[in-house]
Amino acid sequence: MRETLSRDDSSFFRMLPHGVVGADNSSIYCTHLSAEEQKLANCYHNPLRRRHFILGRLCAKLCLAKLGLPPIPILKDDAGAPIWPDGVVGSISHSHSCCVAVAASSSQYTNVGVDIEYTKALQPDLWPIIFSSAELAFLASHSSASWRQNLAARMFTAKEAFYKCQFPITQCWIDFKEVEIHINGCDIRFESATSAVRHLLPNVSGRCIPFGDYTITIATLI
Ligand SMILES: CC(C)(COP(=O)(O)OP(=O)(O)OC[C@H]1O[C@@H](n2cnc3c(N)ncnc32)[C@H](O)[C@@H]1OP(=O)(O)O)[C@@H](O)C(=O)NCCC(=O)NCCS
Repeated sequence: MRETLSRDDSSFFRMLPHGVVGADNSSIYCTHLSAEEQKLANCYHNPLRRRHFILGRLCAKLCLAKLGLPPIPILKDDAGAPIWPDGVVGSISHSHSCCVAVAASSSQYTNVGVDIEYTKALQPDLWPIIFSSAELAFLASHSSASWRQNLAARMFTAKEAFYKCQFPITQCWIDFKEVEIHINGCDIRFESATSAVRHLLPNVSGRCIPFGDYTITIATLI
């Protein structure tokens, strides 16, 4: 088991008194990954990031199982996007104590993207960096501060889900303000006058899902 541990985690093992053995939760989960995935996990010396990577891969494998597929290793490309098996599209996200993955058949979707955030994480001082003036005006038009916070989380996760959905297809970086989010209940519409990927937008839709203290948005591209 020792070779599956990151430098930070292995200090726990090195410091155990003679004759005492130990195990930590992320090394248990790591044993369910392929050797190549464990190698990727070991590149993260931050224990939380490593745990997120491992849990994301386990969620991805659960998705593969739900599609009737074996637990094929999911490595990553140079940009960090997960590499799904042929015939499958999918996406992974993590935030605080939650990890999610989504996947679908590539015969049904060109790609999917998911993002999860702790709903209260996106503080109002960050909004001007992320949202366009029209989006800020939309937020300001709601009188309840907690509802504004909720809408901001939906809009932010929508932007990141869209980014993850489009990137494996286009390899394009998109600035946060390039694509505007329109919310109708749980349904999300994406609009852009300027983005290089605006031609995709008629085929992209989003769905926002409240998930306890978290907000999840899934973007799908047909
Ligand atoms: C790449 C990015 C979207 C990741 O989001 P995040 O909230 O920081 O982190 P998350 O936990 O939600 O997602 C991380 C996962 O995204 C996936 N991912 C990383 N880069 C990716 C990419 N280029 N394309 C698709 N998926 C990617 C990976 O699976 C990663 O998890 P893993 O390393 O454990 O496999 C984000 O860091 C980023 O760069 N955003 C700026 C661009 C943007 O969102 N613009 C908005 C346009 S409207």
